Amino acid sequence: MIDAHAMDREALAALLRWYAAMGVDRALSDEPVDRFAQSARKAPAADPPAQAARSSPSPPPASRQPMRAPAAALSQDVAAAGAREQAASAKNLEELREKLAAFDGCALKNSATQLVFADGAPDAKIMIVGEGPGADEDRIGKPFVGRAGRLLDKMLAAIGLDRSKVYIANVVPWRPPGNRTPTPQELALCLPFVRRQIELVSPDFLILLGNAAAQTLLDEKEGIMRLRGHWRDYHCGDRTIRALPMLHPAYLLRTPLKKAQAWRDLRTLRHALDRAGVS
Ligand code: URA
Repeated sequence: MIDAHAMDREALAALLRWYAAMGVDRALSDEPVDRFAQSARKAPAADPPAQAARSSPSPPPASRQPMRAPAAALSQDVAAAGAREQAASAKNLEELREKLAAFDGCALKNSATQLVFADGAPDAKIMIVGEGPGADEDRIGKPFVGRAGRLLDKMLAAIGLDRSKVYIANVVPWRPPGNRTPTPQELALCLPFVRRQIELVSPDFLILLGNAAAQTLLDEKEGIMRLRGHWRDYHCGDRTIRALPMLHPAYLLRTPLKKAQAWRDLRTLRHALDRAGVS
């Protein structure tokens, strides 16, 4: 563990900056935990090489079988059933927000500051779904308020839209620690909620930003570079909504050369809006 008293302020600030750059930007408990020491204590003694070579390929004894997988799978199933039930029982967006805030089945909630539910107009004809909150969204409690959000606002403005004309949410409503990609389990647990959110907003157009949103909501394995710019059907209750996967603004910030493709997709959207009489 680092002895903060022994470090001068500048070195300490540099260390914190390095932690933040590596995605370590949150203390999960008051006391530090030395995981290296823990795993060193738990590791079984390795077989000596000669004995290992002689040993038969039979499965390890029951006492050395991993014990956590069945329990974890079971609790994931229970949590998933709870998510489906809670989401389906929400009669409106406010109820859905309350049920999501009370839902403890997804571990992302434990490390996030708060739920990031939505921004924009609940009666909008256009709904935008991103991946998950970043640090700014986690702090402020609204989706797309950081750098990627500012680029999203400019993209919307380029085709005559703003936040009063769209409704914005994410496939996971809690910030993944260090902005990592949500795991398939986390996405699956949050899916019933975002699907119900789409059903309650009932937009005419769904814009799916990036891999996580496009693949999860379209149940697709194909990556966003192939999905982007092509209209798809999103089935929602008794309605079919037109869905357009697009490049995520955070990706465009890292890869500005791809902005030309994003611009093409925005024009595709504008064209469809014009044909549908959406201003
Ligand atoms: N990126 C997202 O996908 N969603 C946000 O809310 C912010 C950044």
